[in-house]
Amino acid sequence: MKYFCEVYTTQQEKYFLKQAKEFIIKSDVATDKMNDVIAILNYADWKYYVKDNPVLADKEYDTLFSLLKKLEEENPSLIAQDSPTQRVAKGLNSDFETVPHLVPMLSLDNSYNAEDLQDWHERNLKLLSKENDSDEQRNLFGEIPAFAGMTIEYCVEPKFDGASISLVFENDHFSRGATRGNGIQGDDITTNTKQIKSIPLSADFSSEKIKQIEMRGEVVIQKDKFKVFNDKLAADNKSPLANPRNAASGSLRMKDPKEVAERNLDAFVYQVSNIDGDTPFQTHYESLAYLSKKGFRSSFEIAKVFSKIEDVIKYAADFEEKRDELPYEIDGLVIKVNDFAQQEKIGMTSHHPRWAMAYKFKARQATSKLLNIEYQVGRTGSITPVAKIEPVYVGGVTISSLSLFNEDIIKEKNIRIGDTVLIERAGDVIPYVVKSFPELRDGSEQEVIFPKQCPICETTLEKPEEEAVWRCPNYTGCDAQVAERIIHFASKNALDIRGLGESNIRKFFEMGLLKDLPGIYRLPYEEIKNMEGFGAKSIEKMQEAIEKTKSQALHRLLFGLGIRYVGETTAKNLARGVSHLNELSTKTEEELLAIEDIGDKVAKSILDFFQNPKSIELLQELEALGLNFENQQKTQASGELAGKTFLFTGTLPTLKRKQAEEMAEAKGGKILSGVSTKLDYLIAGEKAGSKLEKAKKLGSVNIISEEEFLSLVG
Ligand code: IVH
Repeated sequence: MKYFCEVYTTQQEKYFLKQAKEFIIKSDVATDKMNDVIAILNYADWKYYVKDNPVLADKEYDTLFSLLKKLEEENPSLIAQDSPTQRVAKGLNSDFETVPHLVPMLSLDNSYNAEDLQDWHERNLKLLSKENDSDEQRNLFGEIPAFAGMTIEYCVEPKFDGASISLVFENDHFSRGATRGNGIQGDDITTNTKQIKSIPLSADFSSEKIKQIEMRGEVVIQKDKFKVFNDKLAADNKSPLANPRNAASGSLRMKDPKEVAERNLDAFVYQVSNIDGDTPFQTHYESLAYLSKKGFRSSFEIAKVFSKIEDVIKYAADFEEKRDELPYEIDGLVIKVNDFAQQEKIGMTSHHPRWAMAYKFKARQATSKLLNIEYQVGRTGSITPVAKIEPVYVGGVTISSLSLFNEDIIKEKNIRIGDTVLIERAGDVIPYVVKSFPELRDGSEQEVIFPKQCPICETTLEKPEEEAVWRCPNYTGCDAQVAERIIHFASKNALDIRGLGESNIRKFFEMGLLKDLPGIYRLPYEEIKNMEGFGAKSIEKMQEAIEKTKSQALHRLLFGLGIRYVGETTAKNLARGVSHLNELSTKTEEELLAIEDIGDKVAKSILDFFQNPKSIELLQELEALGLNFENQQKTQASGELAGKTFLFTGTLPTLKRKQAEEMAEAKGGKILSGVSTKLDYLIAGEKAGSKLEKAKKLGSVNIISEEEFLSLVG
């Protein structure tokens, strides 16, 4: 008996989950139960990656997975094609083979405003009533009477901003994944495609007597995953990826499938392009519903059908306003004639179907002039080139300065001072230079000469071979680094010292009132009080905020110390398992590696930190000053709200956003950045806007007040 996710009833789910627990407890599976384990794991993948509603804990999943792997090793002849172990690739991809698409992968025609859509609609009407389209049949007003009463239903869905992909299933099994290529043929990327867990390895098409089906979709990387990934790259001194779109398309052609898996890609299918068998649906919307039912993440979950073009136009305008609320990037909407019979009548060109239209949102790109490059020294000594540009309005903000990341990027993009440059700022992504326009140069542009010495302390810069970033090695003597470390320590997500922001720190530092990190606790308040721009009240507040840092949560201190590669998440993971900071200082490399999300580089950096006499000295000093080194919160993963997800919106009556988030996290809860089916609780305060609306629409989110939240966290 083969089980596909859509045939699961509540009862079967209960039975399988019960069975899963038994397998786990016994730590044993009989050979004849192998298919059940596969079914459970595939079901768990579907619930997790497509439905955003996990049924197994990570540990349970991993245990079952290892049991299955062991069984398969003992019985290699029994390995099923759709076993989740078959996603795990052995070795590297060699050159990608070129494969022909079953039907050409066409592009889309573009529209940009209401008028374009109205014109398109009229063209559709005309094409559908071709036989009536002659001048004689027009009435006195030039209208074609045959249009009267004719309706065209339109299905509207997001235009996902990622990389397009073709998926072929044969006899219920995933058989081929290919890139778009030139539209006629693409690259065979089957192994890499298997790393995308929201694409099932098998699906029940045989119930509809479909032998082979080809579908199209878009591979995307969700914004939060993209951020985590880019933060990791930055921490590894590698160049960050420009945007989620580049991250997705670059991933598909990577040599190492393991790296593809690490990128946590997602795939939305939006089109059935070919079927060997009878087509079991008559409209595009039905086809999306069908794919969704078969276990795919299709655009069905967000598609909408309208029967009036005016409604499409209104919906498109509203959607553009809310584009940033989606957890992934979109660059517009795609509007498709819903009815297949009408689609056929309307037809296609060699470039695009006439029955579909992309409605492109406003570009988040603009051109500007690069005026100068400044070099900033980070708290770890990294030298970042920062482009100063003529201020330009893009993606809702005015940008006058943006990071060029490192020397290699300047070279790769052939950037010169004085160049015209293209700037992009999409959603939450930091603005970046897409490219320069060498063709617009007039000869006055200057080549960029990267400094050899630290712009602050003049120490000769160093660049380890495997790194992209130049670094000032004068860790304790370079004023810029020391000041940056203090700024980081006092920052909002670290020790959160209100009143001791960047500009004050720089001022005190320049005046010699603050020389190092512990100096924060020895500020000469009396002297500062008399300085211009400071009053007794503001100093009192600053003093209070500094005092408060002494009882801050341990993970904030850990993050604030600025240990290389230790970001907020790593700091939380580190703090979670200990009751005192000193426990961390004695951890071995192996013990560190056992902590969630900690890899070789991070572990080594933590070891280096705790072995450095200067760090020990700093820690001793901070402890003597009274800073909390204990983990009072003991943010256990098994907290009461473990695995539950939260999002706060609007103004809460008593709590500050950050404070509320920390309360949820302290009980093991997780904060999400947007409303999705993954969200368990939306805490709605006053003036809660579109997030609240969306959660209501979804129906799966518990919408609660601050009061209810408080009783939840106890
Ligand atoms: S339909 C025959 N639907 O946009 C229909 N395309 O600019 C062709 N895209 O190459 C495509 N979201 O990669 C369709 N919901 C969606 C889409 C979508 C993104 C991409 C697709 C295509 C490109 C054209």
